[in-house]
Amino acid sequence: LNYRVPQTRRDIIQTLIKGLQRMEYRGYDSAGVAVDGSGKDHAASISLYKKTGKVKALDEEIYKNNSIDFEAELDTHFGIAHTRWATHGEPSPLNSHPHRSDKNNEFVVIHNGIITNYKELKKYLVSKGYDFESDTDTEVIPKLIKYLYDNRESNYMSFSTLVERVIQQLEGAFALVFKSIHFPGEAIATRRGSPLLIGVRSQYELSTEQIPVQYNCSNSRTDEQEKNALNRRGSTNALHSVHDRLAVEFYFASDASAIIEHTNKVIYLEDDDIAVVVEGKLYVHRIKRTAGEDPVRVIQTLQMELQQIMKGNFKAFMQKEIFEQPESVVNTMRGRICFDSNTVILGGLSDHLKEIKRCRRLIVIGCGTSYHAGVATRQILEELTELPVMVELASDFLDRITPVFRDDVCFFISQSGETADTLMALRYCKQRGALTVGVTNTVGSSICRETNCGVHINAGPEVGVASTKAYTSQFVSLIMFGLMMSEDRLSMQQRRLEIINGLQKLPELIKEVLALDDQIKSIADELHHQRSLLVMGRGYNYATCLEGALKIKEITYMHSEGILAGELKHGPLALIDKHMPVIMVIMRDACYKKCHNALEQVTARQGRPIILCCQDDPEISKMAYKTIELPHTVDCLQGIISVIPLQLISFHLAVLRGYDVDYPRNLAKSVTVE
Ligand code: G6P
Repeated sequence: LNYRVPQTRRDIIQTLIKGLQRMEYRGYDSAGVAVDGSGKDHAASISLYKKTGKVKALDEEIYKNNSIDFEAELDTHFGIAHTRWATHGEPSPLNSHPHRSDKNNEFVVIHNGIITNYKELKKYLVSKGYDFESDTDTEVIPKLIKYLYDNRESNYMSFSTLVERVIQQLEGAFALVFKSIHFPGEAIATRRGSPLLIGVRSQYELSTEQIPVQYNCSNSRTDEQEKNALNRRGSTNALHSVHDRLAVEFYFASDASAIIEHTNKVIYLEDDDIAVVVEGKLYVHRIKRTAGEDPVRVIQTLQMELQQIMKGNFKAFMQKEIFEQPESVVNTMRGRICFDSNTVILGGLSDHLKEIKRCRRLIVIGCGTSYHAGVATRQILEELTELPVMVELASDFLDRITPVFRDDVCFFISQSGETADTLMALRYCKQRGALTVGVTNTVGSSICRETNCGVHINAGPEVGVASTKAYTSQFVSLIMFGLMMSEDRLSMQQRRLEIINGLQKLPELIKEVLALDDQIKSIADELHHQRSLLVMGRGYNYATCLEGALKIKEITYMHSEGILAGELKHGPLALIDKHMPVIMVIMRDACYKKCHNALEQVTARQGRPIILCCQDDPEISKMAYKTIELPHTVDCLQGIISVIPLQLISFHLAVLRGYDVDYPRNLAKSVTVE
């Protein structure tokens, strides 16, 4: 929303479209935009454009419309745009956002999340004569606000009061932005459970401003009070009154990458905050004050650089992120490991370390790749902490109503910090009194904010839907936690030293693996017509197999399975013949001999395995169809090295098969629905 910043309509549409494109990496199937209509009183009508497929298609669609004057200069303008990832109802223009109250577009709304009580609301609204045009849960919101507007008891009822009343009726998760022809130039946003931030750009230097939260209960406001509240606007509760004469732009977004090219000053909204921008000023209010809550919202400065989220010279973000790993693991360790004194300090955990050391078990919870980071480090965490470690898929953990106790410490691993299943598991554990620890890559994310303490993995923005550098940084973070926990155990000093030395050499070893890219590509050349690809290993490298198979599934659409080599004879062996492509991970560690046995069983059935092994292992090479020889490191770190060839194979396979590497079909980067 821009205020006193004259821009053409074309500029405004471009800002919205660009913002959507920056968020494309989150995954979506359709997109839409709403801007003020044409004409003298441009805000008296709203134009809606929606399209399935890429944002680019939406952009083209908008310019097909001849009735709009794209070059008209506007002083105040508020537009909204959205990419949808279908939950209720197929991807179609009607189901995509913005949703509207009626054919005149009196109220339009964009929504991220799920409204769980939409059926009841819809039934009620239908009984009151409101017609629905989509199959979505979201559509109840614009219909409900129109219903409240049509039946308002006072002509002074403000837009924000209407929104307050709407969210009192909603159950589920939402981040919402509303626009209405009845309140031209006024923007309202609110959230519960889904992320939402506000970027602020101004000629005025913003640094330490805070916005006091306004509390009121508009439900009981009289006409007179409502009128007074409207008149009071512009007083000290707004974002600095000095902005009165200045041009200001506000950006609402669910992800900082959408707005970072405009401003790095942001305010994160809390659940049930209602943010209102009117006459160029921002207000935040809440229906009522709860004990202990912060009565101000602070402007924060984001450190993220736009170029960090650009692709550079790589074919895809995923490829760029794979090649960033020598630096991203260093960023994860930076300032935390002292290689001279062999100490590890994770600042975000220091205050809670005593409590963590007293716990009865560790529970590590995540989804997808983040879950695999837990599987990969479980053994070393058990060894270093001497505590039982459970590693859990968030959805299954909740399905089982797993017993959790006050003396448990629960880790929530999440790149985005927004995964709904992981967030639900966090709330579940918190309710049961456990200490909660977040391990995320996104500062200010919901998981960051809702956990008692945490570790930021500092891998930098990850754009490719298939996670790569976040995995290796999560891996390193969990190992650092184990090292921190074992610092005063005399018996473990030798082992700790070995691991810390291994971590120091890690970036060099990763570079060695990346140098094998051409060889790995030639293997992908051979495999790319196959329908299936098995990945087998055990011990420290089992997680590598799960993660490698997930990468292959996600972006190449080939069937792929990560198989525990110990289970080979209990089923998977039936799949093996000379045609079935198999990758085996056989590194020099305690499982080497057992892996060798598995290899014998595979070759005895004419299997032709491609083997990831340590350099100088001539014996293994003799039995392999092909080998990828990797540098050797400490057993518990080997998984960081061995996963990289599989990341690269999946990337090359996807390119060779002609698929969009960064935006695989049906998947989203940030899954904010259960
Ligand atoms: C989605 C993504 C995966 C990711 C998983 C967990 O499924 O497609 O790549 O591993 O969510 O995401 P998180 O942000 O919690 O690590």
